[in-house]
Amino acid sequence: MRIAVIPGDGIGVEVTAEAVKITRAAGLVFGHPLDFETLPWSATHFLESGVTIPSDGYELLRGFDAILVGALGDPRVPDNRHARDILLGTRFELDLFVNYRPVRLLDERLCPLKGKAPSDVNFVVFRENTEGLYVGVGGRFKPDTDQEIAVQEEINTYKGVHRIVQHAFEFARANGGLRVCMADKSNAMPQGHALWQRVFRDLSAQYPEIDARHLYIDALVLLMVQDPSQFDVIVTNNLFGDIITDLGAGLQGGLGLAASGNLHPGRTSMFEPVHGSAPLLAGKNVANPVGAILSAALMLEYLGLGDAASAIERAVREAVVARQGTMDIGGALGTRETGDYIARVIMAGRS
Ligand code: NAD
Ligand code: IPM
Ligand code: MN
Repeated sequence: MRIAVIPGDGIGVEVTAEAVKITRAAGLVFGHPLDFETLPWSATHFLESGVTIPSDGYELLRGFDAILVGALGDPRVPDNRHARDILLGTRFELDLFVNYRPVRLLDERLCPLKGKAPSDVNFVVFRENTEGLYVGVGGRFKPDTDQEIAVQEEINTYKGVHRIVQHAFEFARANGGLRVCMADKSNAMPQGHALWQRVFRDLSAQYPEIDARHLYIDALVLLMVQDPSQFDVIVTNNLFGDIITDLGAGLQGGLGLAASGNLHPGRTSMFEPVHGSAPLLAGKNVANPVGAILSAALMLEYLGLGDAASAIERAVREAVVARQGTMDIGGALGTRETGDYIARVIMAGRS
């Protein structure tokens, strides 16, 4: 397996080093040959070369089996141009329409809600990842004046909505009949979100055994906080999915723990922690590498290397429960030492 690694900016570099370390260790233990190729695309690379991603960059990425990303975002690039090209560009160009973001509480102690056990916080979010408000359609008329008009269009296509909602139902069916909740804002956005309503109604009828529920996005976030145990699978659009998965990360114990995959089933897909480059933490060996490590586990699972993926997940859980981690989860280890601990658990065959 050939894996492209884009550490990116800030703490992305540090957490990716640990994710690669752990993936290598698990590959060795389970006899999976893994080849990593690091690509330098980042804010620094852009500032030095003027290139965000080379013109053949997306083609190059398609030649790998998977892509592992740290984070992109740097105060020296205030318009975020490089992140748009590298991160959003890859999502769009490789048509990675499924943003898969599991929300799993590893240790009761880390949940900010009172009395919630790991079994209460255990759901997945499928975020539409190729359209919505992220497509950059729009414009500014009379910019930087007091007559400015700024238009940012939300794009919803039948194909785009259908394939993500169908993916959610298929996942629910394949995992023993999980409950599916679709969230939109069709009460206030009747044009675009009527499409979500129609598609959801039609697909619900095709999966009669699946408990299918609709919630407006504002009600959904309330219920995510009041009683997350009522959710198994949540499917929503690009922007809402972005926002609720930071909330989901909060339910797990913080952004440092949350993992994600950007998928196009059957094609080269991209895996990254949910968090960003956290510039204030960068270079201090304090960032939590667990979100990046669990993203690497999602990658191995996607590549069909489920034994290695499960071993990583078990080792991470052991480390988190034993507080062998960074200070955001009540530990005293650095980023590297957390990775070392998890690698040792895997190498010792304890997980
Ligand atoms: P952020 O995720 O970088 O940080 C938000 C908060 O979470 C901060 O308090 C940070 O210290 C904490 N945090 C994040 N990751 C952590 C970790 N691994 N361990 C411990 N604490 C962690 O979000 P932000 O501050 O809004 O954005 C910073 C930059 O990152 C921006 O340029 C933004 O555009 C970019 N960003 C990139 C991605 C990505 O590449 N996927 C995601 C989100 C934000
Ligand atoms: C994420 C991030 C990105 C997004 C940003 C960096 C554009 O917040 O992956 O969650 O909004 O998708
Ligand atoms: Mn986000």
